[in-house]
Amino acid sequence: MTYRVRNLGMSAIGLGFLGLAWGKDRLHGYATPNTVARSDHEGRIAYQLDIFAALRRFLPADLDLRGRDVLELSPGSSRGNGALFLALGARSYHAIDAFDLAGREDPGFYDRLLDRFAEGAGDGIDADGARALIREPAAFGYAVDRSFDIPRLAQGRRFDLIVSCAAFEHYDSVPKAVAGLTRVARVGCETAHIIDLQTHSRWIRERDPNNIYRYPDAVYRLFRFPGQPNRQRPADYVGAFEAEGWAHVRFAPSRTIEPPLRGPSLAGLARPFSSLADMTVLDGALTGRRP
Ligand SMILES: C[S@@+](CC[C@H](N)C(=O)[O-])C[C@H]1O[C@@H](n2cnc3c(N)ncnc32)[C@H](O)[C@@H]1O
Repeated sequence: MTYRVRNLGMSAIGLGFLGLAWGKDRLHGYATPNTVARSDHEGRIAYQLDIFAALRRFLPADLDLRGRDVLELSPGSSRGNGALFLALGARSYHAIDAFDLAGREDPGFYDRLLDRFAEGAGDGIDADGARALIREPAAFGYAVDRSFDIPRLAQGRRFDLIVSCAAFEHYDSVPKAVAGLTRVARVGCETAHIIDLQTHSRWIRERDPNNIYRYPDAVYRLFRFPGQPNRQRPADYVGAFEAEGWAHVRFAPSRTIEPPLRGPSLAGLARPFSSLADMTVLDGALTGRRP
């Protein structure tokens, strides 16, 4: 009752944002995977180093990348993570996506990124080795298709490490994506996926992070567009990986809703979200290993 008026207002505003996102997609398609402008060279380097550091935090501490083949799902506008995995000794990096956002990336970006990474990370970084591999399509691949058929996009490759960042929450079918990546994972493959569970539209995300969970399915689906957040929760992701036989599957929350916003954020959610115990979790990472 306490938050009823506030949340009715948030639901009305949120519907406006759902409509805006839908309209933007109709006009421009899937075009802006992050908030950093293409012209902001420093910002792009900082963004990429930040994402890479976040991914590495969730990988096993003793993971030796030397000689390993890495797959990144949905890299967005940059294959910078690939350059950095190669600098850590990976044998190859392949990226796949449903939208061609990195196809016209300036290769000079990898040079600048590798320089900065080598400055900050010190010993054990082979920036020159990475530069050589980046020029070989077999070692630094990229494949795009709207169907996002992972085995097809992998083009016969198999992998020892499969990662993604802010991607899984956009997939049309999480079970299908997990089944696809399982088919291209070698025995012993490690996997790590950073997943953003909260509302994506900027203004409302700060004020009502659970806004997308306020609408019944039928209403939310009215504004459906490719890449609309799929409203899957940690248990759905864990279940999808376990169903495909992955071991040690875990979802580690990174951030939760700040205490002053918790009351209103947990009130007035649609079913089934209203009865879930984890609705304070904003984002986190799923990890697992293929036995
Ligand atoms: C928010 S961007 C994240 C990009 C990048 N990983 C990053 O962290 O900046 C979401 C990514 O998911 C991809 N994507 C969106 N909808 C998708 C879908 N339905 N199937 C497969 N990939 C999708 C986009 O092409 C994009 O690469």
